[in-house]
Amino acid sequence: MTKRLGIFGYPLHYSLSPLFQQAALDALGIDAKFEGWPTKTEDFAQAVQGLRADDCLGCCITQPHKEAALQLVDELDPAAEAIGAINTIVNRDGRLKGYNTDAPGFIRGLRESVGFEPEGRSALILGAGGAARGIVYALREAGVSRMTIANRTEERAHTLARDMSRARFRPDAISLNVDQLANFAPYADLIVNATSMGMRGGSADEESPLPPELISGNAVCYDAVYVPPVTPFLEASENAGAQVAGGLSMLIYQGAEGFKLWTGQDAPVNVMFNAIPPTMRED
Ligand code: ATR
Repeated sequence: MTKRLGIFGYPLHYSLSPLFQQAALDALGIDAKFEGWPTKTEDFAQAVQGLRADDCLGCCITQPHKEAALQLVDELDPAAEAIGAINTIVNRDGRLKGYNTDAPGFIRGLRESVGFEPEGRSALILGAGGAARGIVYALREAGVSRMTIANRTEERAHTLARDMSRARFRPDAISLNVDQLANFAPYADLIVNATSMGMRGGSADEESPLPPELISGNAVCYDAVYVPPVTPFLEASENAGAQVAGGLSMLIYQGAEGFKLWTGQDAPVNVMFNAIPPTMRED
């Protein structure tokens, strides 16, 4: 029986998951079809119930469903529970388990694309939404020593900092405002754009969340946005002499983690990267 997999989200125009997941399934000779399942908020809960069918291995979840999905599964991986969002569901004999593979995908992407090792380093996270939650959690677990979270809506940065605080990890929270950013940005080893600024089709697609003059040439700058592959933030960072990486590695590695959970096999990540059209890559 051909198995089914898919991605829930709305809209789904920019999703690359069907492309690279299908390439990986085919490369390993796994008889499964990975589809795009554009699903509106009002239809999402019922659509998730369909995952319990015998022929379904599970799914990926993207915006706007990552938080809502938390309530719809039978069991949660502890990291997903701590983050408060899931992007992967696995169906085992009609029982659904939710995972957040964005967090390990982000760390693996950082390590593999720019060789950044977070332990003992300082980080500035721009944004405090769903993507930022996974990234802050991942960096905490990877041993970052100091962190600042900056967000347009400052209260949201405080909430995220509080939620993720531990005895030896207490992020600062500030607003996304030049004067406040100037106190932290030039000293950060790692700067991550986890806002949607710079994303094609978004309301701020031409804007960088950080003014170029605040970016140090010694920093590593990572943009979770991957469309376009070079965002205004990455362009400014590159001009400042910083090492830069776009969000494609996070996308592929979160997908690779999901692939392993659904199939039990290591994902062929090179096949996944090669399935991405050249215009969508940084190089
Ligand atoms: P995601 O799951 O992709 O993170 P989200 O939860 O809607 O989506 O969060 C989007 C993030 O981008 C938030 O940090 C948001 O800031 P607010 O919390 O103030 O809304 C940020 N963001 C989106 N558009 C922005 C803009 N034009 N300027 C600054 N920040 C923006």
